Amino acid sequence: MMMSGKKSDVLVSVFEAKLHYRVGSALSVMRGHSSVVKAVDGVSFDIRRGESIGLLGESGCGKSSMGRLLLKLEDVTGGNINFEGYDLSGMGRLRLKKFRAQAQLIFQNPFDAVNPRFSIRAALAEPLENAGIPRKDREAKIIAALELVKLPDPKQFLDRYPHQLSGGQLQRVVMARALILEPEFVVADEPVSMLDVSVRAGVLNVFRDVRDRLGLTAIYISHDLALVRYVCERTIVMYLGRIMEDGPTEDIVREPLHPYTKALVSAVPVPHPDQSHEPLPIGRGAPDPRNPPSGCVFRDRCPKAFARCASDAPKPQTVGTRLVACHLYDGEAG
Ligand SMILES: Nc1ncnc2c1ncn2[C@@H]1O[C@H](COP(=O)(O)OP(=O)(O)OP(=O)(O)O)[C@@H](O)[C@H]1O
Ligand SMILES: [Mg+2]
Repeated sequence: MMMSGKKSDVLVSVFEAKLHYRVGSALSVMRGHSSVVKAVDGVSFDIRRGESIGLLGESGCGKSSMGRLLLKLEDVTGGNINFEGYDLSGMGRLRLKKFRAQAQLIFQNPFDAVNPRFSIRAALAEPLENAGIPRKDREAKIIAALELVKLPDPKQFLDRYPHQLSGGQLQRVVMARALILEPEFVVADEPVSMLDVSVRAGVLNVFRDVRDRLGLTAIYISHDLALVRYVCERTIVMYLGRIMEDGPTEDIVREPLHPYTKALVSAVPVPHPDQSHEPLPIGRGAPDPRNPPSGCVFRDRCPKAFARCASDAPKPQTVGTRLVACHLYDGEAG
């Protein structure tokens, strides 16, 4: 953190964050099944202002859970998250209200993100109303937001309903809705995964363009390295609720260090948004997050695992431009 009077470089600071969900019946617990899913399990990283970070990993690794923590849609069950120096868990009512305008989610499925019975005008007016923007000022803001996401001739959309728009058009409306209060921070959770491949690049370009124009700080969640590479200068690779590797995206793509990242990269030889993917060379599917392996959670799929991996959980260590949590790099730190 900078000690000068200027705004700190760091917008969000995540320290040992955990999100453990309680699940299962008393009976299943008696049978010896754990009743806790460790969706996020001791994750630390800083997000600098203006930075775009991809959260990458297979289904179930905790990406959306991490996103929900960052937006305080869920409270940490351990550790803490600070936004502009305020602990998200301890924010007062007024600070929280401000935070709700500053930090926004862009949903995975545009058809879930808007009420099908609301016209586009009503969908976009809702956040303005909640923020106390007077009625007379709303229409201009709605049109400006639709222009921002490059919907041509925005007025023609105002009285339409979600089902009358294409997926790509609706995803732009969803983006406009997230941006209408001029947030500083957005979490985009697989924003193009429901879209046809042919319109993905268009929506991603709008996202990148808007982000750069507004100077947004962004978290971009995806299981797809090609998409993350297209959007983010930095990538955090997650596996079973933990960070495996964190560093500049291009370095990670060119020379992945963690055996898990190596597997992800090898499945996408030349990452590109339209690329088809090979299956991961480490077999399908992460283990049950209720019963993760001891030591390194990746060890039972890791081609390089050795004895120490079963006994000690590797701590993230600096290797070149990156942080890597893997015993292969013990002693190489620096
Ligand atoms: N509300 C919940 N209650 C209990 N378990 C949950 C809940 N939400 C998520 N989980 C579990 O937490 C783990 C992480 O889920 P999460 O949705 O964060 O993963 P993800 O990386 O976003 O996956 P995907 O790529 O499929 O969206 C999974 O095992 C999931 O089943
Ligand atoms: Mg998810």
